[in-house]
Amino acid sequence: MNAIAEKSQLPALRSFDVSSVRSDFPILSRSVHDKPLVYLDSAASAQKPQPVIQAIKHQYEHEYANVHRGAYWLSETLTDKYEAARKAVRDFINARSDREIIFTKGATEAINLVAHSFGKNLGPNGEIVITELEHHSNIVPWQMLRTQTGVKLKVVPVTPEGDVTLEAIKAAVTTNTKLVAVAHVSNALGTILPIKEIAEVAHTAGARILIDGCQGIVHETVDVQDLDCDFYAFSGHKLYGPNGIGVLFGKESLLHDMPPYQGGGEMISSVSFDHTEWADLPAKFEAGTPPIVPAVGLGAAIKYISSFDRTGVARHEHDLMVYAMECLEAINSVRLVGTSKNKAAVIAFVVDGAHPHDVATILDRSGVCVRAGHHCAQPLMDSMGYPATLRASIGMYNTREEINALVGALEKAREILC
Ligand code: ALA
Repeated sequence: MNAIAEKSQLPALRSFDVSSVRSDFPILSRSVHDKPLVYLDSAASAQKPQPVIQAIKHQYEHEYANVHRGAYWLSETLTDKYEAARKAVRDFINARSDREIIFTKGATEAINLVAHSFGKNLGPNGEIVITELEHHSNIVPWQMLRTQTGVKLKVVPVTPEGDVTLEAIKAAVTTNTKLVAVAHVSNALGTILPIKEIAEVAHTAGARILIDGCQGIVHETVDVQDLDCDFYAFSGHKLYGPNGIGVLFGKESLLHDMPPYQGGGEMISSVSFDHTEWADLPAKFEAGTPPIVPAVGLGAAIKYISSFDRTGVARHEHDLMVYAMECLEAINSVRLVGTSKNKAAVIAFVVDGAHPHDVATILDRSGVCVRAGHHCAQPLMDSMGYPATLRASIGMYNTREEINALVGALEKAREILC
């Protein structure tokens, strides 16, 4: 079939309409403390649409077995679905091959895989460059590697607005740099990093680049070939999929040369007490029974997201973020934290004179869910001078009315606490 005929067979994209999206997410119609649920914590974990819930239910009710192991219909059927989910991920991020898609239990495991495998030979003279705004999952694995191998860790500072400039990256990357490991989008501030340009800087110096895409995969269109990234890691549960599933994309040539991360069933081609041969990619990195149904659920989430015109979704989230920032700034004693011009829909703020945890607890009484704390980015909080912040993060299902509910609840919290 030629490309035009193939294209004409694709289903038409759903134009974005927030009320119709909301009706896909059953949980959004519930109440909390007798108030309508206002869920503004999608950066921590997004809610799940009906097709994802149905896919999971269907698998356990009708088609459950282990994968890659059974010579019977049930196992073969679920194996096909598991591998179809891998193809869905490959297409979603435009990887060259299924062999470049490794299923893990989350982004944290994906980054640990790279640290334990690719990282093995980076020390003691090599350097890993990270930034001040990284999530702990893109800091601690490299610190552990430093302890084991002596590899050096260099940290690129953020500006007071929460940006990572290309100049600061260039100043840190040298010919000793072996890996640059950076977030695509900061989970704590929403800053979008110039990852394509950072990849160029890394490659020019002969280094590799790993991108923590937990938030980036949700808000940006990711094309790993265009970005020319070496590794891209993300979790399913922030992408409207189930938890317990993550993805490591790695360039095939790199993954091919990397040693396995864990040993066990299915990651081998032969085992004897004297000698074991590894399986081909991607099985080499998927020891043991994988997260089968979560992978199928992730495939359903990707199908759901891909059914929309994503520019409509992005516009909605951006407009809502701008509206929320304007509303929050207008409240006396509320200060925004992280004001980069290049931001995804994650808004951090503090209320002068009130602890973020107290504010979040009061917001909860109004049905409003936000995250309070250091957002697993303690070094960033330290550098910006805040022990904790509040964070409202926007998903494709949020509305202006919900931002108004946040603002109303914040006014109440101020009356009580300030
Ligand atoms: N990493 C998640 C967050 O930012 C849990 O909240």
